[in-house]
Amino acid sequence: MPVSAMISTQAASAQGRFISFEGTEGVGKTTAIEQLCTRLQAAGIDYLRTREPGGSPFAERLRAILLDPATDINDDTELLLLFAARCDHVQYVIMPALARGTWVICDRFVDSTMAYQGYGRAYGEPLMRAKIAQLSEQFVPLLPELTLWLDLPVHEGMARAGKRSTADRFEQQATEFFTRVYKGFEALAAAYPERICRIDASGTSDEVGARVWQAVEDRFSIT
Ligand code: TMP
Repeated sequence: MPVSAMISTQAASAQGRFISFEGTEGVGKTTAIEQLCTRLQAAGIDYLRTREPGGSPFAERLRAILLDPATDINDDTELLLLFAARCDHVQYVIMPALARGTWVICDRFVDSTMAYQGYGRAYGEPLMRAKIAQLSEQFVPLLPELTLWLDLPVHEGMARAGKRSTADRFEQQATEFFTRVYKGFEALAAAYPERICRIDASGTSDEVGARVWQAVEDRFSIT
């Protein structure tokens, strides 16, 4: 069944909340997500932790290709693979989870595509961003209700990410690329203030975790 056919049947009865995490490299998403999941569990909330690109068996195969430094593809091919992965992930994982009342905590979603492919790959290229907007409209039937943008200066994030042993195809990009990606997130946060919440990602992981939880509590009034 195409994703579009599922909107009316599934989204209408959805009770789960859809939260995404965004940010440039090394901002601490993984730890922040772990902390949120621990708190959701303590609050008795059923959740599913997932990620993009990936999150379904097929999308994980595409992830491996997308992140492999040996993959040599052009920007449009990259974009289409990201959307193919997202399409599968949304249809087979995200929408069914939301429909059964499970919260979905997703490490990256459409904002990453706009920031990385729309700004990072093609800063000042309105055409790329128009393609992304069109693909989103055609193939992505839902947006997160809350997007937590972990905001950390690019050089700080890169210093943290640089400590990892191997760099994937995206991590191998130059600092200028991530500076453009950062500008993309900034622009998105300004354009969608009702959905995207900026989280100061400086300080200890406990401090960041507390800020994330505050934002989630504020939005969903968890008791
Ligand atoms: P991760 O390292 O946060 O798991 O994300 C994998 C990489 O994929 C990261 O460098 C960002 C990149 N990416 C894009 O370029 N576009 C996208 O749409 C998504 C979801 C990720």
